[in-house]
Amino acid sequence: MATTAAIPGWLRVPDDANALAPQVWPERAHRDADGRLVLGGLPATELAERFGTPLYVIDESDARARAARILAAFEAAAASVDTTVTVYYAGKAFLSGAVVRWVTEAGLAVDVCTGGELAVALASGADPARIGFHGNNKSVAEIERAVAAGVGAIIIDSEVEIERVADAAARAGRVQRVRLRVNSGVHASTHEFLATAHEDQKFGVSLERAVELGTRIRSHASLDLLGLHCHIGSQIFDSAGFAESAERLLAAHAELDRVAPLPELNLGGGFGIAYTSADDPTPIEQIALGIAEAVASGCHAHGVPVPKLAFEPGRSIIGPAGVTLYTVGTVKPVPIEGGWRHYVSVDGGMSDNARAALYGADYTVRLASRISHEPPALVRVAGKHCESGDIVVDADYLPHDVAPGDLVAVAATGAYCWSLANNYNHVPRPPVVAVRDGVARVIVRGETEADLLARDAGLDAPDGRDDIVAPAAAEGTRA
Ligand code: LLP
Repeated sequence: MATTAAIPGWLRVPDDANALAPQVWPERAHRDADGRLVLGGLPATELAERFGTPLYVIDESDARARAARILAAFEAAAASVDTTVTVYYAGKAFLSGAVVRWVTEAGLAVDVCTGGELAVALASGADPARIGFHGNNKSVAEIERAVAAGVGAIIIDSEVEIERVADAAARAGRVQRVRLRVNSGVHASTHEFLATAHEDQKFGVSLERAVELGTRIRSHASLDLLGLHCHIGSQIFDSAGFAESAERLLAAHAELDRVAPLPELNLGGGFGIAYTSADDPTPIEQIALGIAEAVASGCHAHGVPVPKLAFEPGRSIIGPAGVTLYTVGTVKPVPIEGGWRHYVSVDGGMSDNARAALYGADYTVRLASRISHEPPALVRVAGKHCESGDIVVDADYLPHDVAPGDLVAVAATGAYCWSLANNYNHVPRPPVVAVRDGVARVIVRGETEADLLARDAGLDAPDGRDDIVAPAAAEGTRA
C-alpha cells in the first residue's frame, strides 16, 4: 500500500503481520503451535477466557529482569567513575503491591509523587528509608505523613516548600533528608533535546536560584541537603540531554559542594522504550555510561568529587512487560487517500489507555488468538467510548481477515496505561494480571459496574437528596 499522509511515515507494511518484533513485546512472548500469543507461559486465549477482556497482562519475569538489568547498568556505569548509585523505581508508571515487591526484591528504591502513591509503597512493605517523595504541590498533611514515615528523601520542588518541610520535620523532632529539584532548562524527548535558559513548566526551581535555595535549605537544622535533582523529560532514547543537563547542574552542585560536601546528584528518569518496530532506543548500558562519563568530566572540570548518583526510571522497567488484550467487536473499512483504513473497535479504549488520545502515542497491535496469512490491512484500533479521539492504536497492520470475536494484543502497555486509567462513559477499569511460568494471578482487581454504582452518593439517598451525607464524614474519607 502506498504511503500517504493518512499513514505515518515510519510505518512499514510488514512482511508478516503475525510477527512479534522482539523489542516491542515481553522477552519471552511467542506464538504456540496453534498460533496463539503466549505470555508468561499462558496462551492469551486462556487468559481472556479466565479473566475477560480488556485485560492488562504483566509478564512478571520480564519486569523483574528489566529492573535487575537497569540497576546493573547504572551500577556498572557508576563504578566506572568510582562512585555508587541508587536506582528508584518511578511508581507513577504503575504502582501496586506486587510491583513494589518485584522492584524492591531486585534492589531498587521507590519513588512516589503523591500521598496515595506513598500509601501504596508503605503498605507494600517498601523500606521508608528507600522511598523518595516528589510532587510540585504536596500538602502539609502529605509532608507530615512522609516525615513521620521516615521517608529517605523529600524532593523540594519550590521555595515555599523549604519552610513547609523544615517546619514539619522540626515539629516531628526529625532531621529530614531532602533534594532540591532544579529546572535545568533542558527538555528532552526521544532523539532530541531542547536547551533554553528557562523551561516553561511547573516543576522545580530555576537553575540560577539553586545555590541560594540550597544554602537556605542548609540554614534549617531540621533539613539535610542530599543534593540537586533534575528530570528532563520522558521517552528519551540517548544520553545527550542527560549529559547537557548534568553539565548545567554541576556548576551549582560544585558551588554548594565547596561550602560543605554535597553527597549526591539525582538525574531523574525518562529512559525510552520501543512502542513500535520503528523505535530503537540506545541500550540502557550505553546511556548509563554516557551519563556517568559526562558527570565525571563535569566534576573534574569543576574540581569537585564525583557525587553518588541517583536515577528514577519507571517506563523502561514496567512498560515493555505489559500487554493489553482486547476482543474485537466490529471492523469497518473506511476509504482514505490511496486505499482503506479498517477501524477495528475493541471492548476497551481511552479509559484503559489514554496515551494515544493524550500524547498521540503510537502502539503495536497483533492478533492474539490466531495467526492468519491473509495480506496485511491498515488498521486503526478504536475503543468503545463516545468520542472520535478514542484511539488505542493509531496505525498498524493486521491480517486482512481480522474479524469480530478475534482477540488482539497491544504491546508495551505496562507503563502509564493502568496509572492513567479512568471511568469515562462509566466503563469499569480492567483487572491487572501478572503471569509467570504458566501461572496467572490478579494483582489489581478489576472494577465492576457495582463498584461504579457504589460510589454514586445520589443513588444512596432514598429521597434523592444529596445533602443527607454529612460533609464532614465525606471529607474524612478523603484525608
Ligand atoms: N522522575 C520524575 C521526577 C518524573 O517526573 C518522572 C516522570 C519519572 C521519574 C519517570 O519517568 P519515566 O522513566 O517513566 O519516563 N504520562 C506520561 C509520562 C509522564 C512522566 C512524568 N514523570 C506518558 O504516558 O508518557
